[in-house]
Formats: sequence, structure tokens, C-alpha cells
Amino acid sequence: MNIVILAAGQGKRMKSALPKVLQTLAGKPLLQHVLNTALDLQGKSAKTGPIVVVGHGAADVKQFLHIASEQDARFGKVSTALQAEQKGTGHALLQALSKLDVNEPTLVLYGDVPLTSKKTLSKLAKLADGVPGQDSALALLTQNFSNPTGYGRIVRDMDGSVKAIVEEKDASPDQKRIQEINTGIMVLPTNSLKKWLKALRASNAQGEYYLTDVIAMAVKDGVPIRTAQADSEYETVGVNSRDQLASLERVYQLNQANVLMDAGVCLADPARIDIRGTLECGTDVFIDVGCVFEGCVTLASGTKIGPYCIVRNSVIGKNVTIHPYSHIDGAQVGANSLIGPYARLRPGADLANDVHIGNFVEVKNSKIASNSKANHLAYVGDSIVGSRVNIGAGTITCNYDGVNKHQTIIEDDVFIGSDTQLVAPVRVGRGATLGAGTTLTKDAPPNQLTVSRAKQISLQWQRPVKQEKNVVAKKSAPKKVASKKSVKAKK
Ligand code: UD1
Ligand code: MG
Repeated sequence: MNIVILAAGQGKRMKSALPKVLQTLAGKPLLQHVLNTALDLQGKSAKTGPIVVVGHGAADVKQFLHIASEQDARFGKVSTALQAEQKGTGHALLQALSKLDVNEPTLVLYGDVPLTSKKTLSKLAKLADGVPGQDSALALLTQNFSNPTGYGRIVRDMDGSVKAIVEEKDASPDQKRIQEINTGIMVLPTNSLKKWLKALRASNAQGEYYLTDVIAMAVKDGVPIRTAQADSEYETVGVNSRDQLASLERVYQLNQANVLMDAGVCLADPARIDIRGTLECGTDVFIDVGCVFEGCVTLASGTKIGPYCIVRNSVIGKNVTIHPYSHIDGAQVGANSLIGPYARLRPGADLANDVHIGNFVEVKNSKIASNSKANHLAYVGDSIVGSRVNIGAGTITCNYDGVNKHQTIIEDDVFIGSDTQLVAPVRVGRGATLGAGTTLTKDAPPNQLTVSRAKQISLQWQRPVKQEKNVVAKKSAPKKVASKKSVKAKK
């Protein structure tokens, strides 16, 4: 099946420099949602991929497609057709005509209608299939809206068969009362479509080439017109403004929350979770309010995520507790570990089982073996940390010399006193203790106490006495500048 996605419009009401189809829903451009469904529908065996009609912001849209194809090879099949001037939906489809296979029907989608399901589109495609002995039909996705204002209306005969679509601006008062609307999504027989598009005229209230005018042409040509409706209204909702985008986002997020709850995940509030990617959960996972999950995140059974955590591209093991306000990005956390509150795990943080990372501790590109702890105010970067290591408050691995990054190795059973700096590259031997305040610039031998500190001294001295305020004020009063007169007088 040919699939054409109309995406050349400007989207004025978004009041944005970004083309409308690149505005994001659940972290992904609207167009990406549509393309994902289109590619799923076509399947791997399709010779050609969807065609996107670009116009407004074409360079940005093409750049997005290029980046997307680097991340997901399926997007390499997507091609574009340029509509230099936006003269209406019929004119937009005309630009893709030369790329269509006449032996296959054509499905028209809109780049700003992101949530139509594959199931609904398959249903529509089936409806357009030629029944034995009959030509293939034209299938329209319609919807009944209690307030149909702004949409094209489906005009039916006395016997109920579709006669035409009339746009809001061209509709008579009687037609305006029709509640069945055109979602814009349709499947058309491609050979006839070629003929119809070429015959379109822009003689209407908007001076545009309406794709919807082909319906009356199909009726004239005796092509059967069939209609289907989506299971849920949100599937056919387009995004024209910020508030529509925000409400569709909530619909999408609530759907995902319901899927999680159906699978047994406990959510403190299904209205306060955002998943911008995929979230896989084991059994008895609890997620508190305000959490955001980005990219691919896995939470194993028994894990608890406290309020207002952000977790991106990470794998969290069994029975882990992540306390509030923690940021976890590109990390692996082993079973039974405790993280946060206010912890930050950055890419390459790889924690084994039973690791404790406490408040205001940052871990980057470091492996920490089981039963080790960094409970307060520390930076562990480019390090390999053994088992049962205790990293005291205020410890910093000084991994960067201003040009290059260097590694710190801390072997098993090390105790690092508070406020220690480990100037990498450096190694702390097994069982070593570093005294509080040490600045370690050379390797510390195993099983010894290493300490670098100025020698403690005590002196007799007098604490300064606080000066009285008026004395201070007099002292610091600005000096009077002598006027010219007084200078003269002095002479
Ligand atoms: C269209 C339909 C209307 C339907 C409504 C559903 C027509 C004439 N009208 O109206 O029956 O109820 O959608 O939302 O088809 N586009 C282009 N190039 C253009 C014009 C539009 O690529 O020259 C693209 C837009 O980017 C958008 C889609 O086509 O993705 C729909 O365009 P829009 O202007 O929103 O059409 P409506 O007036 O809403
Ligand atoms: Mg529209």
C-alpha cells in the first residue's frame, strides 16, 4: 500500500519557529508517531516506504528524517515530496503522485494527527479492498463529534451512502448541523486518484485545491465509498494549538499509565507520570508522583521509585529503592541498592548489588562493586571501586586535568575518610584507609593508613573584637571634596 503523509502546512497557531509536525508528543515529533505507525502497517516486505509531503520548514523536516534514519534503519525507506507553495490538501497529494504505485491503493495520513492506531488503519485498508466481483472502494475514516465546527462534513444520501464532503467554510446552515466529520484519513484507488487530482479546481471559499472534492468525483465514477470509525476519538484528533498538544499528551500518558497498571505496576497517581520512550516493569514495582522516564528504562520486580525522579536509558535491578529527586541517566543499578534522595547517576554508572548512593552524590562512568557506599556529597568519576568500600562525605575523584580524563582505582575493603581528593590516575590498595582531608597524589599501599595533612598546631592568639557601628560609620564616611570656591579662598 502507498502511504502519503501530508506535512507541508505551517501550523500558525502553534506560534513556534519549529514546523508543527516536529513539535513533540511524549518526547517524539508528531511526524515520528505517524511514521512509526505507517512503517508498522507497511511491514518489512514493502518495497517503498511512506512519502512525506514537506513544505513549510522542509529543511528541518528533512533533517529530522535523516537523523531518524541513522537511529532506526526503517526510516531509511521514507521519502519526501516538496510542496513549495501550500495550495491545499489536494495540491499537496498531487506532489507525491509520481511516486505512487498505481497497482496499490493509497492511504492518506496527516503529519499532525499522531495517535491513529495500526488497528484502525488496517480496518480502513481492508474496507477499501476490492470485494470479489467489485472494484476497490474509497474508504473514509469518519467520526461523530458533538461539536463538528471547523471540520469537513460527510454529506450522505437519503439511503445513507456518502455523496460528498463539504468544508465548514463552504457548508450551508443545514450541512453545518451534520455531526459526522471527515478525519482526513482515507484510502483511495490510486489509478482513479491520479485522474481526480488533476481535475481538482480551487473554486471554493478558501481558493484551495481540496482533496475532499475527490469524493464527489468518485461518486460520479461509480466508485463505492465506505466509511469506518476509530475505536477512540483521540485517534483522529489533530494538533493545531498548544492546548490541543497538551491535552493529547495527557491522553497518551494516561493510556500508558493504564497499560502499566493493567500489568500490575502500582502508580501513586496515573495522572502524574510521564513516559517518553518505553518503560518495562517487573512485578510489584511502585512509582510515586511526578516521575519522568525517557528512552528505554527497565525496572525489575520490587523496585520503588520515589517522587520526582527522572530516569533515562537505565536498567534498575530487583528491590532497588530510589529516593526522591534523583536523576538517573545511562546507569545500571544492581539489586537491593539504595539511591538518593538527590542522587545523580550519569552515563556509565554501573553499580553492583547492595550499593548505597546517598544525597548529593554524583557517579559517572564508574563501576562500583557490591556492598560499597558513598552516602553523602561525593563525586565518583572514571573510577573502578571494589566491594565493601566506604567513600566518606565530600570525597572527590579529581579525574580531569583540564585536558584529559584519568582513572581512579579503589580496591576492595578500602575506607576513605571525609573530604578526600583522589588526584587521578591513582590507585588505593586493598584494605587501605585514607585519613580525612587527604589529597592523594600517589598510590596508597594496601592495608595501611595514608594521610596527607598539614601538621596540626595550636597558638595563643587574640580573637578580633567587634567594632562599634557608629565608629565604623564615621571612619568610612566619604571625604568632602573641596569646592572651587573654597580652593580659591585657600589661595
Ligand atoms: C482538512 C480537511 C477537512 C477535515 C480536516 C480534519 C480538506 C480540504 N479538508 O481540513 O475535511 O475535516 O482536515 O482535520 O482536506 N497540508 C499540506 N499542504 C497544504 C495544506 C495542508 O501539506 O497545502 C497538510 C497539513 O500540514 C495538515 C493536513 O494537510 O497535516 C491538513 O491540513 P489543514 O490545513 O489542517 O486542513 P483542514 O483545513 O483542517
Ligand atoms: Mg487541520
